[in-house]
Amino acid sequence: MRFKSLSVVTVIFTVLLACHGTVIAAERITLSSKCPPSFEKLENGLCELRSLYEFYNSPAGFGGLKTPLPEHQGGYSAEQIDLGRYLFFDPLLSGDKTKACSSCHQPGKGFSDGLARSVGIDNEVLERSAPSLWNVGFLKSLFWDGRAKSLQEQAKGPLFEKKEMNNTIENLEFSLNKNKTYRALFNIAYPESRTISVNEVSHALAAFQSSLVSLNSRYDRYAHGDQEALTEQERIGHTVFRSFAARCSQCHTPPLFTNQQLAVTAAPEPEGKEFDVGAEKISGQASLRGAFKVPTLRNITLSAPFMHSGALADLESVISFYNNERGHAVADQELQLHWHLVNPRLNEDDEFALLAFLKTLEDETTLPRVPEVLPSGLLLKEAPMYTAQSIP
Ligand code: HEC
Ligand code: HEC
Repeated sequence: MRFKSLSVVTVIFTVLLACHGTVIAAERITLSSKCPPSFEKLENGLCELRSLYEFYNSPAGFGGLKTPLPEHQGGYSAEQIDLGRYLFFDPLLSGDKTKACSSCHQPGKGFSDGLARSVGIDNEVLERSAPSLWNVGFLKSLFWDGRAKSLQEQAKGPLFEKKEMNNTIENLEFSLNKNKTYRALFNIAYPESRTISVNEVSHALAAFQSSLVSLNSRYDRYAHGDQEALTEQERIGHTVFRSFAARCSQCHTPPLFTNQQLAVTAAPEPEGKEFDVGAEKISGQASLRGAFKVPTLRNITLSAPFMHSGALADLESVISFYNNERGHAVADQELQLHWHLVNPRLNEDDEFALLAFLKTLEDETTLPRVPEVLPSGLLLKEAPMYTAQSIP
């Protein structure tokens, strides 16, 4: 008994020490003036993406190896990107200071959270699964139903959504302006504005997220001409992926592995969950009942479970889902399934090859550094899960 109370005191003391330590260190935080990997600093000080795909100009939409990239949303300074990194990891942005963007978009989990459906403030289970954020800087619409048109607009969703971070504009601006370290950092990144407003917050978050670029996978080396980058099985998988039978690349079009369109696939809901009408709710169009944005397959091995509500636990289940009768998983709904969904009747070897190919899309070489100390002095939540190395 005595031992127990002693250890409680020790823990309290250690926590106080730890908190005290971080507050002091927080004042020493400054912003990097270097652009992230894959970006070049231009003369005007802004960071611009560099990739071999810039040099290709084959017609888009065919899913070929040398399809150029869509436009990247850039135009951010190195300091704005680095400020966005601190904000992304800081629970100060949520109403009760318990949730950061990174709670649900963890770098070690493909910027998703390993859950079928994310869990917000007060342990509320959300309607949908957290999408990966790799390559979001290329996307023209965001959220599973495509309802946000820019990263800056998107960020205001989770910040003020009651179930997610449950903050208010007033409280967010108040808590950032009250913090000396943040005032100094915003001053560096946005020298022309006097006080911190939600617009700079969402701008910096967009800057950071647009730097999450993954284009150096083994597939990319293969696409740029290195035949040896893929094994024979993976090359067969690539052929299956592009084949007229499977048609994966018609929707998951390289190099982003999404054509950025909405499609009705009739992906299942988890047991007991009501059918999610997807983009029908936003557009009012019955033809979009059950339509979701085609997600990227970059780093797909890191972000299980899959689909808008995480109903499919692993990639094997996703492949079985496609290699089965059209619409079989949602039989009780009137859905206009996309015409590219067929029953490809793949044999087992083709299924394994397809799986092997999906694994070649892994590349975390530009994984950003997780801040050791946050400007708010708050401790990082769920810190052990933040490193790619911690993935089993
Ligand atoms: C509680 C968990 C949670 C938190 C916290 C959270 N997100 Fe998300 N995020 C989600 C879920 C779930 C979705 C999908 C929602 C939907 O489509 O309806 C999503 C979607 C997104 C998307 C769209 C990606 C795409 O491909 O369409 C972006 C970008 C994003 N979040 C960024 C952020 C940022 C920035 C923050 C912090 C300000 C944040 N998220 C905080 C769970 C979370
Ligand atoms: C008609 C367009 C279309 C075709 C063809 C297609 N997909 Fe998809 N794919 C989607 C859409 C839309 C989703 C999201 C569906 C949802 O969540 O309800 C998706 C989801 C996925 C996911 C889960 C992604 C995530 O982040 O949860 C994987 C993996 C996937 N598809 C692989 C494939 C493979 C492999 C093929 C070929 C056998 C294929 N897809 C064919 C449109 C398509």
